[in-house]
Amino acid sequence: MGMEMAFAGQTPPLVDDRSANGIFRVSRHAFVEQSVFESEQREIFNKCWLYLGHDSEVAAPGDFLTRSVVGRKIIFTRNKAGKVGAFFNTCPHRGALVCREKQGSANLFRCFYHSWAFDLDGKLINRPGHESYADDANANGEHNLVPVPRLESYRGLYFLNFDRNACDLASYLGNSMEFIDLVMDQSADGMEVIGGTQEYGFKANWKLLAENSADGYHGQPTHATYFDYVMSTNGNLGDNVVKISKPHDLGQGHAVVEYGAPWGRPIAKAVPAWGEEGEREAAALRADLTQRLGAERADRIAYTNRNMVIFPNFVINDIMAITLRTFEPVGPGQMRVNAWALGPKGEAPKARERRLYNFLEFLGPGGFATPDDCEALALCQEGYSNMAEAGWNDISKGLNQERPTIEDEVQMRAFWREWSRRIEGERA
Ligand code: FES
Ligand SMILES: [Fe+2]
Repeated sequence: MGMEMAFAGQTPPLVDDRSANGIFRVSRHAFVEQSVFESEQREIFNKCWLYLGHDSEVAAPGDFLTRSVVGRKIIFTRNKAGKVGAFFNTCPHRGALVCREKQGSANLFRCFYHSWAFDLDGKLINRPGHESYADDANANGEHNLVPVPRLESYRGLYFLNFDRNACDLASYLGNSMEFIDLVMDQSADGMEVIGGTQEYGFKANWKLLAENSADGYHGQPTHATYFDYVMSTNGNLGDNVVKISKPHDLGQGHAVVEYGAPWGRPIAKAVPAWGEEGEREAAALRADLTQRLGAERADRIAYTNRNMVIFPNFVINDIMAITLRTFEPVGPGQMRVNAWALGPKGEAPKARERRLYNFLEFLGPGGFATPDDCEALALCQEGYSNMAEAGWNDISKGLNQERPTIEDEVQMRAFWREWSRRIEGERA
C-alpha cells in the first residue's frame, strides 16, 4: 500500500509503523527539520532522565566537575557530608557561569564577575558589599545556586531530569536495570570512570547515533578494517566465542543487543594475542566472578557483549572495553558526543592496560571504529538533501521474525516507537 493510500487526507506520521504489514519506516524529515528539533527539546530532553556523570568522578568531598547536558551548563559536585548534588551553572546575580573549570576540588565556588561565593550546597555564603543589601535579601534562597529539579542515581550512574514531575529514575530505567547490573557486577569493589573524556562532534542528527550504537547490521561492512585487524592480531579466534546474538526491546525506548564476538574482554575473556599469562589472568578473574555470582551469571558477564541504548541519548557499551557515552543535538544536523571508559576499581595493572588499549583501539576519534561510524552517519545526513524525492528510512529488517538477531532492527524500532509516542502526540 502506498503512503498516499494509507494516510489519505491526513498528515503522514514521522514514524510509519505498520508492523502487521511488514512496514516500518521513518520520515527523513525527522532528521532535518528545525520544528522536530524543537519538539525534541520540549518533549524528550526536558522530560526524560538524562545521564550526568558517574559517582567515581566526584569521589571525594569537594570534588566537582562541570558538564553540558543538552547544551545546559551544570555543576556536578559532592558536598562535605559526601552527598552528591547538581546545580545550574549560572550566577543568581547576573547569570555568569560560576564555575569555569572542567573539574577539580573546591571548598566553595566564587563567581568571576562580582565575586559572589557559594558553598558546595549552592548556598550564597559571601558577597562583596553585603551591607548594601537588605538583611533578608536571601531569605527565600533566591540568591543561591539553583539545583537541578531532579537528580537520582542507579548503581553509580547519576541522571538528572529537568521535569520536577518526572517519574522516579528506577521506574524510568525499568528493564534496562538488569543489564546495567551485568556491568556493575563486574567488580565487588565497584566501578570507576578511568581518565578523561573523549569529546567530539560531527554533522549528523543525534538519532542516527542512537540507532548506530546498537546496530549489529553495520559491524562487518563498516568496520571491516577493524575485524581484519582483530583476526590477524589474535592469530585465531580462540574457542571462546559464544554463539549468542540477541536483541532485547526493553520497553520505554531502551534496547540492548547481546552477542558473542572475537575480541578479548578484559573482564575475563582472553584472546590468543594476550599469551599464556593473559589466559591465566582471565581464568583467575572468571573464577572470582563464578565464586561471587555463580557460573551462569559469571559466564554471561565474561563472554557476552552488550550494546545498550537508554532512551534518549545514553549508551553503555560493554564490549572490548566499557564505554559510557552521551550524545546530544546541537541542531538538527549536528551532534556533540562525550564518552568515558569505565572499569573495575582496583583492576590489576595489566588488565587495566589491556582495557585502555582496547578502548582506544576501537573507540574514540583515534580508534578503528568511531571515525568509520561518524563517516557513515554524516553520509546519511548528506543523503537527506534528497528528501523530497527519497523521503523514508527503512527500519523493517527482522520485522515479525520469530528469532531476530542483533543484525535485525528490533532495537531501533524500540527507540523509534518511544520517540514517536513522545513527539507525534504533540504534533497531532
Ligand atoms: S554575575 Fe556573579 S557575582 Fe555578579
Ligand atoms: Fe560502529
